[in-house]
Amino acid sequence: MTFVRVMVFSVVVLLCYTLFANILPQMQSNPPEEESPLAAGELDMPGMIAWGETLFSGKGTCTLCHNNMGRAPDILVMNLNATFAERLSDGRYEGQAKGEDGAQAVQTYLHESMVDPSAYVVAGYGKKGTNDAVSPMPAVDKAPIQLSDVETNALTAFRQT
Ligand code: HEC
Repeated sequence: MTFVRVMVFSVVVLLCYTLFANILPQMQSNPPEEESPLAAGELDMPGMIAWGETLFSGKGTCTLCHNNMGRAPDILVMNLNATFAERLSDGRYEGQAKGEDGAQAVQTYLHESMVDPSAYVVAGYGKKGTNDAVSPMPAVDKAPIQLSDVETNALTAFRQT
């Protein structure tokens, strides 16, 4: 008799658990979807610029440093034409935009700043102890940021606008 009672009790407990598990709402978390307009095929200029803006504060993590807190030049608010012309006329500048001017210079300098930050380090922003020879900024086409070519182009388009 005891055996039967124990069995019945066990079955009832099991049923309760099963019932309870089924009442709980089902939760499923998917990884966030990558926002890539490439898939949507919208690669016109306005699309690139908007995408660049998303990358700037998102995947590119640029706003972690490029903000108004002084960790890096606030490239969102500064006049790139004027500022970059100043960078190129600095005697220390030996990068790829040397000799270029206007929009072309801005474009080359922007791209170089992203993929080879130490090519030219803005005075006062270099890694401590390197006398502004090494930039604290990570190359954005390498891990961990790892932007693709199209993504760096989108960022350039966004900043150039
Ligand atoms: C870890 C901080 C950090 C992150 C993240 C970062 N940067 Fe920088 N960046 C710097 C610092 C510091 C400098 C100034 C030193 C130098 O010239 O390399 C700089 C310089 C630059 C310059 C040259 C600015 C000038 O005044 O000449 C550009 C352009 C730039 N970054 C773009 C970007 C973009 C676009 C991203 C995101 C994809 C990014 N950076 C992410 C720290 C960062």
